[in-house]
Amino acid sequence: MSATTKKILVVNSKGGSGKTTIATNLAVAFANQGLKVSLLDCDRQASCLHWAEERNAQAPKVTTVANYHSADKLTAQIDHELDHGTDVIVMDVTGRHTDAALFEAALKICDLVLIPMLSSSLDIKAGERFVADLMTHRVMRATPKPMGVIYNRANTSSANQQRLETLLRCLDVPVIAELRDSTVYANAAEKGAGIMEMRENAAASKEYSAWRDIMLWIDRRTAVRRELPRPIQAGRKTTGSNPKQTRVS
Ligand SMILES: Nc1ncnc2c1ncn2[C@@H]1O[C@H](COP(=O)(O)OP(=O)(O)O)[C@@H](O)[C@H]1O
Ligand SMILES: [Mg+2]
Repeated sequence: MSATTKKILVVNSKGGSGKTTIATNLAVAFANQGLKVSLLDCDRQASCLHWAEERNAQAPKVTTVANYHSADKLTAQIDHELDHGTDVIVMDVTGRHTDAALFEAALKICDLVLIPMLSSSLDIKAGERFVADLMTHRVMRATPKPMGVIYNRANTSSANQQRLETLLRCLDVPVIAELRDSTVYANAAEKGAGIMEMRENAAASKEYSAWRDIMLWIDRRTAVRRELPRPIQAGRKTTGSNPKQTRVS
């Protein structure tokens, strides 16, 4: 069982916000680092599976599995991945009420949450509500996890986006990166690729600094979780430098 597997949840209740785009590009980025990556498609639309069907067999491997049937199947699949030494698990999940059990299971399992968000007024209104619901979800209250927003197809000059930025600052939810509105994402998806695999493409390379920010944020947040001190147990004598007090999770 691997204690160092990164379990990343990409979720928003809104269709079209960029969940699959971000999940597939993340999976590709980690696979290109030589890591063993599983992409769990928890959306009935099965877009990750369709993406995987187009992927070049010679490209770094991303194991893509359908997991939209039940919360129990998702939990069993995660156990399987941990037993088989998977380094990174990326879950593409809709946060819709109809899939509430699956969403809750993914939330319990994950180490951190990425929320893609578009900047149209309707998307931002839905996004505000989704972030508020997520922060007050009983799983998040019981076991808080780092969460961050990725502005997708960003339009920083829009009043709506500025309003959302203010709200997120108040809630202490970071905006990790902004992705441009670029056809390079659809072009990569059609080939079962990620934009990091399109190095000769000028539009793809414009996005690399945003993706570096996303990968750094994930690395920092998962590393910090591993270094969190173990809660002090009642009746146990503590000394500041005792290595047994450092949680490895
Ligand atoms: N940054 C972007 N620029 C341009 N098109 C994008 C971008 N992100 C996503 N898209 C396109 O928007 C559509 C919806 O994205 P998708 O990732 O499938 O959303 P979701 O999984 O949340 O439903 C897809 O056609 C995708 O190629
Ligand atoms: Mg999708």
